[in-house]
Amino acid sequence: NALTRRGRGLLVAFEGCDRSGKSTQCQMLVDYLKSTGRDVAHLCFPDRTTSIGKSINSYLQGTTELEDHAIHLLFSANRWEAVPKIKELIEKGTLVIMDRYAFSGVAFTAAKKGFDVKWCKNPDRGLPSPDVVFYLDISIKDAEMRGQFGEERYEKAEFQQRVADIYKQLRSDDWKVLDAMRDKNDIHMEIRSTLLEMEELCRDAPLKNLWT
Ligand code: TMP
Ligand code: MG
Repeated sequence: NALTRRGRGLLVAFEGCDRSGKSTQCQMLVDYLKSTGRDVAHLCFPDRTTSIGKSINSYLQGTTELEDHAIHLLFSANRWEAVPKIKELIEKGTLVIMDRYAFSGVAFTAAKKGFDVKWCKNPDRGLPSPDVVFYLDISIKDAEMRGQFGEERYEKAEFQQRVADIYKQLRSDDWKVLDAMRDKNDIHMEIRSTLLEMEELCRDAPLKNLWT
């Protein structure tokens, strides 16, 4: 089929506020790609299974407290520890689909008092850069109407609004902003066709490094 090709795999990230449908779209895309026989890997950040990830998990659940700079660096370290695997997968032609990435790292910390975007970007500078970022765009009002935010740290409307404002500052040409209020199948079809275009564009280009 059209998605079958030789050469490196694509690095794809999904970003957005809570309740934007990010994880749903991520899963729909992974399922679709698998159904076409593509080699696909589904990664989630934070990856709560590693020892760093376990510290992050207990911080998010409120079991432990961590200083704001320290937790920022742990989130970043949790991505860096995945880099050898990501590079290996991309090299062997696997499509790597990530639910959240460094943009979450920057948006959620920079939303805190006393942090600026420039400082927040630094630890993630040089990570493999996604070929495309799908941003699920939703107003915090609409997100709230989909049901209460959860119980984890950060899942409060006021904080999410600040996160959304920072995400806006991070957008670049590699981003595909999608209206998260559209029918989820329509969104999925748009993601599919964007991915096809990206595969053509990135076929011979090496992975770039983020924010360098
Ligand atoms: P999740 O709900 O997608 O598992 O993400 C957990 C929370 O962690 C979510 O509120 C976003 C936040 N987060 C950060 O603060 N920094 C990061 O680097 C990442 C990946 C997520
Ligand atoms: Mg969550």
